[in-house]
Amino acid sequence: MGVTAILGGQWGDEGKGKIVDLLTPSFSVVARYQGGHNAGHTVFVNGRKFVLHLVPSGILHSDVTCVIGNGVVIDPVALFKELEVLADAGIDTHGRLLISDRAHIILPYHREIEAVAEADRKDRPIGTTSRGIGPSYEDKYGRRGIRMQDLRNQEPDDVLALSIKENVATRNRIVGGEPLDWQPVHKDLVDWWQRLEPLVTDVSVYLDGVRRAGGRVLYEGAQGTMLDIDHGTYPFVSASNGTVGGVFTGLGVGAKAVDGVLGIVKAYTTRVGEGPFPTELSGNAGDALRDSGQEYGASTGRPRRCGWYDAVVAKYAVRINGFEALALTKLDVLDGLSEIKVCTKYRHHDRLVEEFSSDVSFLEQCEPIYDTLPGWDQPTAGVTRFDDLPVAARNYIAYIEKVSGAPVGLVSTGADRDMTIVRESSLVAKWLE
Ligand code: GDP
Ligand code: IMO
Ligand code: MG
Repeated sequence: MGVTAILGGQWGDEGKGKIVDLLTPSFSVVARYQGGHNAGHTVFVNGRKFVLHLVPSGILHSDVTCVIGNGVVIDPVALFKELEVLADAGIDTHGRLLISDRAHIILPYHREIEAVAEADRKDRPIGTTSRGIGPSYEDKYGRRGIRMQDLRNQEPDDVLALSIKENVATRNRIVGGEPLDWQPVHKDLVDWWQRLEPLVTDVSVYLDGVRRAGGRVLYEGAQGTMLDIDHGTYPFVSASNGTVGGVFTGLGVGAKAVDGVLGIVKAYTTRVGEGPFPTELSGNAGDALRDSGQEYGASTGRPRRCGWYDAVVAKYAVRINGFEALALTKLDVLDGLSEIKVCTKYRHHDRLVEEFSSDVSFLEQCEPIYDTLPGWDQPTAGVTRFDDLPVAARNYIAYIEKVSGAPVGLVSTGADRDMTIVRESSLVAKWLE
């Protein structure tokens, strides 16, 4: 098994960062294929906290090369800041971070355009991370985006200057007020290129070489299936393909370049931002999950909406991504509950609904139908052997497998690397051999 994709099966924040960091020692390269610094991937190493946004979560292992693919949108200022934080923490990234020459750049005016777009939506904002992600992808698909490659040409009358002039004029029309001058934007890009140039390369060629030489590549997704631009709860989604298809387009690798797909799901469900969330718990029950799971955004600090595990969502994510195994995270957060609910279907008026719908208004009206399972008293926090889990927790995992339609190969029982169970003879154990 050479290459594996790790991605979210819910609305993001499933614990992808922890699992990527944990599995990285079995790989030589970790590659991000979409999203931007809207992502916040938390990794704890010996109690020390790291939050990765753009840099793949494999970076904490010194012998691994990390790649940022063409499908990622990059805010150079955010990237430099992240690299400085890593350097201050003693993580040397020199020579082991590569960026695609085809990756698009987020400019400060993308954030301004996003603010206008969100304000224009009045009663139904998306609740974005305000990082300029959406407008940057809009420029990409509008074929006016600025890519790393474009920074190679820096004469005053070149294509880069022309693009910036046009894009800034568009910004001025949309945002209004004091017009922005294009020259300082151009100057920033020219300055940033000094630092970016050594990192920028043809990532597709690089990854092909790694695979041909027998190297193992881990693909790291950001966001999650339900935030995917095509398969998520549109329009309450992010602007890229976090599902498995994004690996191919976001890195320039062929169909045979993914050998395994691991879906990360939390033992319950969370969501940040607006949009349908059928199993959302209001009041004390939701507050209790948020408190025990410390469910606050890793990027924005916003409180996450919390609810029970939704197997309609999980089954959907298994189908869309072809998850061969699941990593079930944050099991410990359910410790001490007398009972735990799992949604297996929805009810819409008199109708039972078993498949996740494309219609967000319909989803807003769906009532979850729950099965109730017994909880456990004995803590699972920090448990590293499956057989040491309380029986009710083992039964819960077996139930999750049954209703989600994929085996649970890994169970996470705490934020730290060590607080993990890799199940013997599971696919995950095989991938790590
Ligand atoms: P990501 O975006 O998918 O990487 O997830 P986030 O980092 O945004 O959110 C997951 C949060 O849960 C982080 O604070 C992690 O440190 C924490 N975490 C991950 N796995 C576990 C676990 O098994 N138990 C507990 N209690 N926390 C976990
Ligand atoms: P990770 O990788 C959770 C959500 C935002 C908003 C919607 C659109 O840490 O799991 P955007 O700024 O992307 O245009 O916002 O998507 N969102 C995330 N929610 N985890 C993330 O990333 C997210 N990235 C974006 O809250 O609802
Ligand atoms: Mg996150």
